[in-house]
Amino acid sequence: MPDTKRKIILSGMRPTGKLHLGHFTGALENWVGLQSEYRNYHLVADYHALTTNLDTSMLHENTIDMVIDWLAAGIDPVESPVFRQSMVKEHTELFLLFSMLVTRNRLERNPTLKEQARDLHIESDNLVYGHLGYPVLQASDILLYRANAVPVGEDQLSNVEITREIARRFNREYGEVFPEPEPRLTVFKRLPGLDGADRKMSKSLGNTVLLADTPAEVDAKMRKAVTDPQKLRKNDPGRPDVCLVFTYHQKFNPAETGEIREGCESGALGCVDCKKRCAARISEFLAPHLERRAALEQDRPLVEDILVDGENRARAAARDTMGAVRTAMKLG
Ligand code: TRP
Repeated sequence: MPDTKRKIILSGMRPTGKLHLGHFTGALENWVGLQSEYRNYHLVADYHALTTNLDTSMLHENTIDMVIDWLAAGIDPVESPVFRQSMVKEHTELFLLFSMLVTRNRLERNPTLKEQARDLHIESDNLVYGHLGYPVLQASDILLYRANAVPVGEDQLSNVEITREIARRFNREYGEVFPEPEPRLTVFKRLPGLDGADRKMSKSLGNTVLLADTPAEVDAKMRKAVTDPQKLRKNDPGRPDVCLVFTYHQKFNPAETGEIREGCESGALGCVDCKKRCAARISEFLAPHLERRAALEQDRPLVEDILVDGENRARAAARDTMGAVRTAMKLG
């Protein structure tokens, strides 16, 4: 029996394939931590992926690769349905109804969209209708499960705000159907990518450590990481607070940060050694993940079954909400 007292969380990610350390610290870790306290729904936002990439040839494989990382990180699919947005048709239905409740102007002012358009060099005349409506689809993801909370990074706050506005607008117009979901910010800020402290880790920037990387791969990638540009020689004093390798130490090697800071600042610790130690800690951290990941890789049909099961359960909840929506709106 589903536990009806626990509050509901909806978390989602676009299927971009294998995940990296930034996904872990920025999202997954948070999801796993919230599992026992809430009823969770974990959504693969495959429709959302189409807003920036029409090529669907890798969509399925990317979905399975990503879900393997979710499961290996500790998402329990028995407790919490894991499912694809495109397999629960109610998302599109609610998306259409919600699209009547938000103005074009509101969507054009959305800072997340503006930032994305800038990063991807999309001129406003070339922005597709579905991309403008991205947060409306996201609102349907969240509210279809009547979620009370949404774990997100800072970059998603404006999308959650639009969800809250849509919920309020619907409730005012047709009666109380939806809760106003709260954003749950991740505790640890997003990890910088290997190419510099001010760029986040991102596959399209090619500056990632994947959760699937072997110790040799982690080592090779860390060797190329950018450090404090003022520390040119081993014995030059460095500034840990501007060095991204130090940020990684803080996350994956907390016990030794004091010693690393001292060594870096005094010049006793060179960047090559510092990076080696960091790579070793990251690989230790990833070892159990790699092992669980490898087992799931061997059984991709099991992962497909997990999705189908999750979709059946998500669909039941979604139908229930759509029933309430139709009644409230006196449709049909
Ligand atoms: N927009 C989110 C991202 O890019 C992905 C997403 C889609 C999502 N639907 C969601 C996140 C619903 C939270 C809730 O990261």
